[in-house]
Amino acid sequence: MRAMVQISYGSPEVIVMQEVAKPSPESDEILIRVQAAKVGPSDCAFRKGNPFMIKLLYGLSKPKYAVGGTELAGVVEEVGKDVQHFKPGDRVLGMSVKNFGAFADYKCLPEKSPLVVIPDNLTYEEAVGVCDGGATALTFLRDKAKLRKGQKVLIYGASGAVGIYAVQLAKHYGAEVTGVCSGANESMVRNAGADFVIDYTHEDFTKADKAYDVIFDAVGKRSFPACKHVLTARGIYLTTEPQLSTLLQMMRTSLFKGKRAVVATAGLMQNKANLSFLMELASKGSLNAVIDRRYPLESLPDAHKYVETERKKGNVIIQF
Ligand SMILES: NC(=O)c1ccc[n+]([C@@H]2O[C@H](COP(=O)([O-])OP(=O)(O)OC[C@H]3O[C@@H](n4cnc5c(N)ncnc54)[C@H](OP(=O)(O)O)[C@@H]3O)[C@@H](O)[C@H]2O)c1
Repeated sequence: MRAMVQISYGSPEVIVMQEVAKPSPESDEILIRVQAAKVGPSDCAFRKGNPFMIKLLYGLSKPKYAVGGTELAGVVEEVGKDVQHFKPGDRVLGMSVKNFGAFADYKCLPEKSPLVVIPDNLTYEEAVGVCDGGATALTFLRDKAKLRKGQKVLIYGASGAVGIYAVQLAKHYGAEVTGVCSGANESMVRNAGADFVIDYTHEDFTKADKAYDVIFDAVGKRSFPACKHVLTARGIYLTTEPQLSTLLQMMRTSLFKGKRAVVATAGLMQNKANLSFLMELASKGSLNAVIDRRYPLESLPDAHKYVETERKKGNVIIQF
């Protein structure tokens, strides 16, 4: 089978297409013929081995798992003898959090992984798109912020994958949503449901009078200290980028009842229930996939280059 193999840490060119052996499912696994995957900033970080923590966890000189990619959608080709809930032909969405491997024609996943059947009215690309960003936004807004109807939420970086699904999910939970993006993406963010849109190239929301119950920095560009005075008295600041300073602020603010800083490794907190919930919302049209660009598998290095511009809107999809 084809696989995009990462031969070392480095620039996008370290990823090369190779022929590798097709995997066979263990007794508790299903074999998926991959139809769509996604590329995001975390894939670029793993490819570069930066931050250094990645090398500590996944190999100092070269990556332990040579084929990257976490979110994937495809068709079940074979199931292990103990698998109960999937059968060949099922269209599935899954996350390979432990050992990656989505950028290959086939991937085996344990049945108990975050893995669900895709509703008939969604494409593979839509399913993987909604999962990329949607799962993270769900964990931050529903589980960490405990977002409630009528609350005022500001989504910073509202045009990225996490941000655009955060806007839609916040509306789903009945919040009043302000999206922050550049002017070029204003109509996209408004179409996703934002009540207000702020162009950060012209206006700094931290200098305005309006206060928010929740500020979700989906792109990790604004700090808790900068946002603090535009939070309500019990307001929560959340960020996808866990800097050491924010972790310390999180520990300190958790001791008091006032304004709080929260970070989370949402990618490691996913499960079947979250994916089912996202698929249900998408199937009903309450969550719409926002796909910016598509690249064929062999052009994965080009997809990495585009993601690294930090200008992508919603998802970048890999086609098989
Ligand atoms: N903690 C976790 O578990 C977790 C999980 C998933 C992702 N993440 C992290 O979350 C971050 C966002 O991921 P993503 O996939 O949503 O990113 P992304 O789609 O690559 O973000 C691109 C978007 O960022 C916006 N942007 C760039 N610079 C900006 C700035 N200075 N101010 C405001 N917006 C800016 C761009 O909008 P404009 O062109 O309009 O500026 C663009 O639409 C990444 O750092 C990723 O590693 C963390």
